[in-house]
Formats: sequence, structure tokens, C-alpha cells
Amino acid sequence: MASGRLLGKTAIVTGSASGIGQGIALRFASEGANVVIDFRSHPEAGEETRAKAEAFGVKAILVHADVSKISDTQNLVEQAWTQFGGCDVLVNNAGVEKHAAFLDVTEEDYDTVLDTNLKGAFFLTQAFVKRLQSAKKPGVVINISSVHEDMVFPNFSTYCASKGGIRMVMRDLAVELGPMGIRVNNIAPGAIATPINTALMADKPKLNALLANIPLGRMGTTDDVAGLAVFLASEDGGYVTGSTFVVDGGLMRNYHEQ
Ligand code: BGC
Repeated sequence: MASGRLLGKTAIVTGSASGIGQGIALRFASEGANVVIDFRSHPEAGEETRAKAEAFGVKAILVHADVSKISDTQNLVEQAWTQFGGCDVLVNNAGVEKHAAFLDVTEEDYDTVLDTNLKGAFFLTQAFVKRLQSAKKPGVVINISSVHEDMVFPNFSTYCASKGGIRMVMRDLAVELGPMGIRVNNIAPGAIATPINTALMADKPKLNALLANIPLGRMGTTDDVAGLAVFLASEDGGYVTGSTFVVDGGLMRNYHEQ
């Protein structure tokens, strides 16, 4: 029988067939939460995550949703409510990045990145909060942003725009939704070993240059992020709203001159 800090809670985690989302969904399950696993393009990875979550003794369902489509975000929330009778926690994790110098950014790249990382999280949160409001329930929203909600990332201007945007949406919603008992926070990961960084990890010189900038001397793991997500989702984080929590091994603070 499951036990833990999230016992009896239900959580939606977007982009949870891999990477940080998968790490959070499994950690939530290990803490007793029922989880809604969302995937966009890899059903088999989603199913594997779902089965691993259930091995912790909780219920887990798999839902296909491309968060850049508003109807998909509404269906995701609908599925959680229909199958679990409610939902307490939303983790907006699904995200993409596109490498392009500013002058080469296409409208298509811009739309893909902004629609997934910003518009997707925005309207999924709206659908989630509408349900909480009609059920008169409190809730928790956690956005997985990035150190690049604040720090420059040359050649990733679309990514920076989306992450800076989600930083301000989080701050705004913490104020608007606080009176409804809804807490909203961001987790800003640095370089985490996940599929989004596959190319970087295969490029030794680039990887070593990055590692030289990380005071803790290593890339992060999905578990490094998931522990903080549990804290924010649980009652331990009950008085925490409107903040960003950086999980980056010190990367963001590491300016030094030779
Ligand atoms: C990006 C990674 C990058 C890391 C540190 C993350 O948000 O997804 O590609 O390596 O930030 O710069």
C-alpha cells in the first residue's frame, strides 16, 4: 500500500513519458499520488511510465495531449476529473527548444516553442483552475521553467521568450489565484541529463565547457528536480507561492573572471 507526502492526491504531469516530467511523475507516485501521465509522441514510453508509476501502488492513467492545442489541454483536465473525481496538482513540464540565431528564427519555430512552453501551460492552467473553482477546491500549479527564465541563452531566443513569459505568468497567477487557495511556483532547472540535452551530451567539447560553469561539477538528474516538486506539491510547501526555485548546481551564479 502506498504511503507518503502526497497520499490521496492526484497530479497531472505534462510531458511525463520522458525526462524531468517522467522523473516527477514517478516520484509523485512513490509519495502516494495518483498520476495522469501525458505524452505527445511516444505512447510506448508513456505506457512504460504509467506501469512504473502503478508499481508504487497508486493509480496511473495515460492520456495523449499536445499541450499546444487548447482542446487537448481541456481533454487532459477532463480525463483527470472523470477518472479520479478531481485533481490537486498540475505540473506544466512539457517543453521544447529550437536552436537558431535570432536572424534565422522562422515563424514556425517561434510558434512551436511559444505554443508549447507558454500558451500550452497558460491554457492548461486555465482549464485546471476552472475545474478547481467550480469544485471549490484548493490546488497547486508547478511550472518547470528553466534557468533561462532569467539567464541569457544565445541562439535560443524563442526558448528564452517562453521561459521569461512563464516566469511572469507564475507571478501574476500567484496573486490572482492565492485567494482561491491555489499556489503557483516555478522550478528552474539548469542542465539536466534528459532527452532535450541529447545533442549537447554527445558533444564533448560543448559538454565540458558547460560543466566548467557548473560549481557542483555535474549535470543534474531528474531526481534532483523531482524532490523539490514533491515539496512544492505537498503541505510542506503550503505557504509558498509566487516564487522560482533554481535547481542548477550553481550554474546561474557562476560568473567569474579569469
Ligand atoms: C535547456 C538546456 C540547457 C540548460 C542550461 C535548459 O533549460 O533546456 O538545453 O543546457 O538549460 O543552459
